[in-house]
Amino acid sequence: MNAEKKQNVFSPPADLDLSVHIGSLAMSNPVGVASGTFGYGEEYDELVRIDALGALYTKAVTLEPRRGNPAPRLVETPMGLINSIGLANPGVEGFLQEKLPLLRRHRCAIIVNVAGSTEDDYAEVVERIEDHIAVAGMEPGERSGVDGYEINVSCPNVHKGGMSFGIDPVLIGRLTRSLKDRTRRPLILKLSPNVTDIADIARAAEAGGADAISCINTVVGMVIDTEKLRPAIARGAGGLSGPAIRPIGIAATYRVSRAVHIPVIGLGGIAHPSDAIQYLLAGAQAVQIGTALFSNPRAPQEVLDGIIVWMQRHSVHSVCDIRSMLEEPE
Ligand SMILES: Cc1cc2nc3c(=O)[nH]c(=O)nc-3n(C[C@H](O)[C@H](O)[C@H](O)COP(=O)(O)O)c2cc1C
Repeated sequence: MNAEKKQNVFSPPADLDLSVHIGSLAMSNPVGVASGTFGYGEEYDELVRIDALGALYTKAVTLEPRRGNPAPRLVETPMGLINSIGLANPGVEGFLQEKLPLLRRHRCAIIVNVAGSTEDDYAEVVERIEDHIAVAGMEPGERSGVDGYEINVSCPNVHKGGMSFGIDPVLIGRLTRSLKDRTRRPLILKLSPNVTDIADIARAAEAGGADAISCINTVVGMVIDTEKLRPAIARGAGGLSGPAIRPIGIAATYRVSRAVHIPVIGLGGIAHPSDAIQYLLAGAQAVQIGTALFSNPRAPQEVLDGIIVWMQRHSVHSVCDIRSMLEEPE
C-alpha cells in the first residue's frame, strides 16, 4: 500500500466511536455513497477520499448486461432529479472482470447492489460472485472487494422484477431466505417507499434473515414538457430523488426502525450534516448520500465532519446512541 492510500483511511477523534456494525461487517463510520450515483467508484477516484467512506454501495449488478432505458432518462425538478436509468450495467461477468479488481483496491466497505427480474436472477448473481471469490483464493489480509450485498427490490424503472418484489412481503421473505443460503456476507434489503406499509415489508425481510434495511429508494414521479406535449423522460414516469424526498425517507426510517430489530440505513435527500442527523435521530444507524454527489462530490466528507461536530456539541460518544436521543412524539 502506498503512503497516500494510508493517509486516506478514516481516523475519528479518539473520544468518539463512529463505527457501525451490519451483521458481521464493521464500517468505520456511518456515511456511505448510494447505489447508482457513484458508479463503481472509478469516476470519483480523484474527487473523493473513497477510503474514508463508511461504505461504497455499487451501481446495481444484474445477471446479464443491460443498456438501460432510452434517453432522455434524467430530468431536474425544483428539489431533485427524476431518473429512469433502467439499471444500465455490465452484467455480473463484466462486473467481476472489469469492476471488482478496481473495487478491491479500496479500504472502505464495498456493498454490491444486486437487481433482477426473477428470484433466480438475484440468486445467480450472488452465487456467481461468491464462486468467483472462492476460486480467486485470497491471500491472508487481501480484500475480496465484496463486504456485503444490498438487494434492490425497489427499482421503479424496469418492466419486470425490481419494485414488484418490493411490494410483496411474501416474495421478500422468500427471496431473502434464498439469498441467505447462498452467502455468509451481510444482506441489506433496499426497500421502496412506493408501498402501502413499508414496515410490513421490512418485517418480512427481517424474518427472512436480512441483516439490515436500506430505506429508501426513489419515489415514483413524472415531469411533463408542456411544449413537446410529452413526458420529459422517454419512459414517462421515473424515480424522484434529492431533497424533495427527504421527509419521506425520514418518516420511513422512523417507522421501519421501530418495526424491526436489525439496523436501518437511511437515505433520500441527504446533502448536509443536519439532513443525516435527522435520519440518525429517526432511527438509522448509517446513511447514504446519492443525488447530492452530482453537485457536490465532497458532500460525504462534509456530512461526516458535521456529524462529528454535532456529536461533540451534544456530548454523544457513539454514533449508535443518536437514535435513542429523539424525543418521541405524543
Ligand atoms: C441516477 C440514479 C441511479 C440510481 N441507480 C440505483 C441503482 O442502480 N440501484 C439502487 O438500489 N438505487 C439506485 N438509485 C437510488 C439511490 O441509490 C437512492 O436510493 C435514491 O436516489 C435516494 O437517495 P438520494 O435522494 O440521496 O439520491 C439511483 C438513483 C439515481 C439518482
